[in-house]
Amino acid sequence: MSRRTPAYRHSHGLLMPADFPVGSMASALTYEPSPDDVFVTTYPKCGTTWMQNILWLLAHGGQPLAAGKTLDEVFPHIELSGGPYVAAMPRPRLIKTHLPLAMTPWSDEAKYVYVARNPFDCAVSFFHHTRGFAQHYDFVDGTFDDYFECFVDGQVDFGDYFEHLLTWHERSASPNVLFLTYEGMKADTPAAIREVGRFLGDQFAAAAADPDVLAAVLEHSSLRRMKEDQSRWASERHRDAPAFIRKGVVGDWTSLFTPDQAQRLLERCDRAFEGTALGDLWPDIIEKARALARS
Ligand code: PPS
Repeated sequence: MSRRTPAYRHSHGLLMPADFPVGSMASALTYEPSPDDVFVTTYPKCGTTWMQNILWLLAHGGQPLAAGKTLDEVFPHIELSGGPYVAAMPRPRLIKTHLPLAMTPWSDEAKYVYVARNPFDCAVSFFHHTRGFAQHYDFVDGTFDDYFECFVDGQVDFGDYFEHLLTWHERSASPNVLFLTYEGMKADTPAAIREVGRFLGDQFAAAAADPDVLAAVLEHSSLRRMKEDQSRWASERHRDAPAFIRKGVVGDWTSLFTPDQAQRLLERCDRAFEGTALGDLWPDIIEKARALARS
């Protein structure tokens, strides 16, 4: 049976959203980080925007983005905005990237906050993302069954989920990398914010330790508040697709996965996680997936 695939573009050995400027990717790869740069490094749909907003709020005493501003302007996605845009920003710079580790601009002094999310929820969130951004993917009529085949084969934009996760997890032994999970952030958001503050030091640590600032960060980064005025986070979505900040929960994957799909993604998890501590990150999700696969 022939399946629909999103309209990706090949760039520097990666699949990329079709309308990301070629030049921006090229200049992102040669960007030289400053020692005080802070990167949010994620595989897509793993909690990037939430973490970006938290960092922005910590850096600004809990004050949200000014009206009319977009997060991309002040916390650019380097593969989209390009190296020169980022280099021209005032320091300390806040930078988003989905690039695999091997392609991420690296400095031993800069800081990297990595957020991982379980692959089941990531796949479902990435599916809704892909069908909703018609200008990037031309996949409005694509089904989850179509999309799953791309995801499980690693044939999606920014590359294979497992390669991204494994390489960044290994690198998390570096003192300038903080490795968190979306599920951990959901379970105890104040603890995650304090951990980020301690990791980044200076004004971030002071902000996270201040109860009033912490309360403001929690309020403005809450799912409820982030669902308001979503033009701050994302460009226009297709009218038939859910909003960018969609559900924001753990476990929504069960709404779309079939037993066979659960089995096939589990096989990838089993191969990828063997000999690593990654199997311990999402025991409940993995157990639920095994139960579905057996059903
Ligand atoms: S992107 O496009 O790659 O930058 O997307 P990303 O921001 O990484 O992931 C989007 C998912 O994160 C959820 N989200 C949140 N969850 C909880 N709390 C807050 N504040 C929050 N903000 C964003 C968002 O709803 C997407 O997940 P799904 O499962 O699709 O709802």
